[in-house]
Amino acid sequence: MKKICLLFLILPSILIFQSCNNISSSTKTTKNDSNQDANIERKVDSVLALMNLNEKIGQMVQYAASWDVTGPASSEGNKFKEEKLKKGEVGSMLNVTSVKAVREAQKLVMENSRLKIPLIFGYDVIHGYETIFPIPLGESASWDLEIIRKSAEVAAIETSAAGVQWTFAPMLDVSRDARWGRIMEGAGEDPYLSSKIGVARINGFQGDDLSKNNTIAACAKHFAGYGFGEAGRDYNTVNIGEHELHNAVLPPFKAAAEAGVATFMNSFNEIDGIPATASKKLQRDLLKGEWAWNGFVVSDWASIAEMIAHGYAKDKKHAAELALNAGSDMDMESYAYEAELEKLLEENKVKLSDIDDAVRRILRVKFQLGLFDDPYRYCDEEREKNEIYTKEHLEIARDVAKKSIVLLKNDTVTTKKSALLPLSKSVKSIAVIGPLADDKDTPLGNWRGKGKYNSAVSLLEGVKSAAGDDTKIYYEKGIELTSKTVAPGENQFLHLMEFNTTDRSGISAAVAAAKKADVVLLAIGENAFQTGEGRSQTKIGFAGLQQELLEAVYAVNKNVVIVLMNGRPMDITWAAENVPTILECWHLGSQSGFAIADVLFGDYNPSGKLPVSFPYNVGQEPLYYNQKSTGRPMSTQVTYSGYNDAPKVALYPFGHGLSYTNFSYGNVSLDKAEMAKDGEIQVSVNVTNNGTRDGEEVVQLYIRDLVGSLTRPIKELKGFEKTMLKAGESKVISFTINTETLQFYTAKNKWEVEPGDFNVWVGGSSTTKNKAEFVVN
Ligand code: BGC
Repeated sequence: MKKICLLFLILPSILIFQSCNNISSSTKTTKNDSNQDANIERKVDSVLALMNLNEKIGQMVQYAASWDVTGPASSEGNKFKEEKLKKGEVGSMLNVTSVKAVREAQKLVMENSRLKIPLIFGYDVIHGYETIFPIPLGESASWDLEIIRKSAEVAAIETSAAGVQWTFAPMLDVSRDARWGRIMEGAGEDPYLSSKIGVARINGFQGDDLSKNNTIAACAKHFAGYGFGEAGRDYNTVNIGEHELHNAVLPPFKAAAEAGVATFMNSFNEIDGIPATASKKLQRDLLKGEWAWNGFVVSDWASIAEMIAHGYAKDKKHAAELALNAGSDMDMESYAYEAELEKLLEENKVKLSDIDDAVRRILRVKFQLGLFDDPYRYCDEEREKNEIYTKEHLEIARDVAKKSIVLLKNDTVTTKKSALLPLSKSVKSIAVIGPLADDKDTPLGNWRGKGKYNSAVSLLEGVKSAAGDDTKIYYEKGIELTSKTVAPGENQFLHLMEFNTTDRSGISAAVAAAKKADVVLLAIGENAFQTGEGRSQTKIGFAGLQQELLEAVYAVNKNVVIVLMNGRPMDITWAAENVPTILECWHLGSQSGFAIADVLFGDYNPSGKLPVSFPYNVGQEPLYYNQKSTGRPMSTQVTYSGYNDAPKVALYPFGHGLSYTNFSYGNVSLDKAEMAKDGEIQVSVNVTNNGTRDGEEVVQLYIRDLVGSLTRPIKELKGFEKTMLKAGESKVISFTINTETLQFYTAKNKWEVEPGDFNVWVGGSSTTKNKAEFVVN
């Protein structure tokens, strides 16, 4: 409190009164809290009134800690940053982590600048800070909104304990393309699921009170269209129709804005010729206008300056003009605003009111976070010592990880007359084989925050800890997946993958191990750095010698369980056609091996469902379940919309996932067959667990609008419920269909329900045929 009063000694007395009396009140982000909102607005205005132009522009500048666009910054570069911090001409820093580092940077501002406006510190906490959770795509396979919220909450606790109060997450980019490396960072291909999961993550990060010192500001990114880059190539051109943009891409962002996400990040890509960073339509008109959202928009890393390379801005000055006029509030690492905004203002190319609006938005979030109350409120050495990578957090990470696993296939094998999984703990022998079997690093995935190199529990470790004392475990790596692995401390962004391995010398030992074991666990898939930013691929099969290893092992022992570790949908067609059991284990984070063992041995009955379609081969990409019909959907003749050489549907569809028990669905029943446009229909279905084990099922509701002013997808997810059913238990699961369920962005460019015929399905995957019909009048 003392610091705050000191801070405001420079303010006129009326402000001192306001600040010292009101400023420490808790500031909620909940939109209904109008008193607190008004209070913050008054404070924001009073600070803004004191600021000169340089200070205002400074708030719109974000610097990275130690490296810039062209690589590691020189000490000269850092010196320059230090001077700017001291002058109060920087609003934010990214990649400054640890209480010590944050405190030092904050001190430069608080002890030297005129107005002492605290910095906000941002960092990419994508799936955990140091306790690493499954990659977001994997976690999304849990369809469990509460544990997803929980994992973000833990990430917020750890992040804030390290001094940082802003994460650049969640990524809300719907993506339909397995080639795109960043598909690992989102919630998959469906806008409805992505909206629900995005909001769960935002609620986890931000909690119900942003001013608490263990909650952090979230960032809805990348606004917008980034997941639709042509050919799955990162940063690539996006050509998407206006209606598809509204119906497929924007819903998770709208949901995030409504949930009160503190910040947005714009995106690198252009849409229909306009870089998103310069899109007034998206940022000013839609986000800040129509959606009335009041947080701030940070640019993506140098996305303002990159408009020069796009061929949209002629120089940095022009880029700054375009970005500000479009509503980009904070410049991450382009150095464009600090250099050009003053000149642009003098030339009347930008407006002071837009600068003021941007600063107001940035200050608002800083007030909401309580940074004006105490700029060091997140700098607590005790918390840093005690609240990061704790036993409790690791337990939660294990829980999230096991719930993210998807059992893709578990066929009965003739020799056993049952499926391979779950394994009995008294199984005589297990061969644990493969380049990822004892890999302690890959499970951390890309974007692993401060996850320590080689700190994950490997599959082998997990199996050893779960198997009975009498079980023999034979481990063989077989092959190396890559010829270059990431070294401790190596910058992940600079790490290039290489798969030119030719060393087959370990395969014979792997085959020998497979031969003598009752069952083989074969851990293959992708290295951690095959997915993530800048890691698009034209091949999505098993890289390197993995397929060779798979076939060699399978040739001597048919009892193979593939433990798939990956960050994107893969082409696993050969495996699916031959191997009896496939367990999708993504990159599951710190507790990976324990979580996988929980599922392998049946301590946890798998409940995950795919949030993305798995194709037969890469040529089908982009592949997604909620596609349109085309004029030739039939498959009985040559001239239909399919392929000569592959099915047009997925190998494993969206929503698919098996359990160790069986669920059956009764007929879909509706409480009425007709509804008014603004009415409701209750849909219910009886779900039964027919097996002998308890299990959770994700009951999914899909609809189809048969005829529209625009063509509509053949199926759209509009509801789901994850429910536990005891062995033999039946439950009626109900959903309400209403305006929100049925509306879409129509040919009239507005969200509305169009009267007509609809289908509704309820089942355990997007391929369910369990259907009813109704009419909207
Ligand atoms: C990514 C963003 C990220 C930013 C800061 C960019 O390259 O696209 O998602 O938040 O870097 O690290």
